[in-house]
Amino acid sequence: MCDNCAKSDLTKLAAAFEGREGDRHALIDILQKAQEIYGYLPTDVLYAIAEKTGLSPAKVMGVATFYTQFRLKPVGRNLILLCKGTACHVNGADSIEKALAEELGIGDGETTADGLFSIKVVACLGCCSLSPVMMVNEETFGSLTPEKAKDIVRKIREASK
Ligand code: FES
Repeated sequence: MCDNCAKSDLTKLAAAFEGREGDRHALIDILQKAQEIYGYLPTDVLYAIAEKTGLSPAKVMGVATFYTQFRLKPVGRNLILLCKGTACHVNGADSIEKALAEELGIGDGETTADGLFSIKVVACLGCCSLSPVMMVNEETFGSLTPEKAKDIVRKIREASK
């Protein structure tokens, strides 16, 4: 089913509105809460937020697409943040990206068909001395080589069987 056709359980959305019914100025807070609840911001949830806040769907969609913190598509169970900041770039981030693409068949902003992995390229993870670096969920992996990166995702895939 495509995301646009998906029917979210809108009863869960009530928690995002607690104490904020009709508060047009709380949109970012409400979107953050909704993302916590659903893992991303499905289209039908954005429409429901527009209706409840009295804002136009275009306004709600505009805010949701403007801020990079908001996700409009579901992400995989394991979110890979691949750093391509200067230090990581110089130390081979492109070859890590290529290795991940070979192993997972996805690139930046994509999710594997089994919903296990998503990749997001970021500018700096704040640990440049370990470059090239990627994070998988909360864990940081540094001094990567293409083989090491492939190995990490293989192990995660094995562990989730
Ligand atoms: S440039 Fe990659 S961690 Fe800073």
